[in-house]
Amino acid sequence: RPGAEHWVPRGADLDGLRHAAEGCRGCELWRDATQVVFSRGAADARMMLVGEQPGDREDQEGEPFVGPAGRVLGEAIDAAGLTEDQVYRTNAVKHFRFERRGKRRIHEKPGMAHIAACHPWLEQEIALVRPAVIVALGATAARAVLGSPVKIGEVRGMVLESPDGTPTIVTTHPSGILRIRDEDDRRRAHDGLAADLRRAAELIG
Ligand code: URA
Repeated sequence: RPGAEHWVPRGADLDGLRHAAEGCRGCELWRDATQVVFSRGAADARMMLVGEQPGDREDQEGEPFVGPAGRVLGEAIDAAGLTEDQVYRTNAVKHFRFERRGKRRIHEKPGMAHIAACHPWLEQEIALVRPAVIVALGATAARAVLGSPVKIGEVRGMVLESPDGTPTIVTTHPSGILRIRDEDDRRRAHDGLAADLRRAAELIG
């Protein structure tokens, strides 16, 4: 069976999982990426934030959400009154997918096959961290967490459930917020993300 299943160690703790991910060949994205970008956060974090895939900066540094989108997310985490130790940040896909244009590397959305191939990692992370709530950032993350496609506009802010029964809130992806040109609209989107995180924070008790 294709995908990461073969590389996911059974019975390993989070550090073991992280280490094993370095060797994952479950899809082809590892070939062009600098390194795997696994996750950031403690095994006992109460909230799991799931993004799409690492970006250019994340690929270089090996840490999720260290680039511009990460700054937007960090601000929303602060605005929601959450602390570092409460949140675990990860992605639906663990390698950067991009297209080369000259010297530039242009982010390319991961395909269904990449999301499916990488899913065993996410599944195992959820099983080990056992968060009280998952926040899916954007449609790709929502699909990976929920196992079926949703329209962000229809479900945003609602409390849904992942297949293993974890309360899940779907919200916008911070990268999308960065692309909003109008300042007032961007501010509103920022506030909306913080509000969704606050709602999620209420569920962690
Ligand atoms: N966007 C994501 O979805 N994840 C990251 O780690 C960085 C940017």
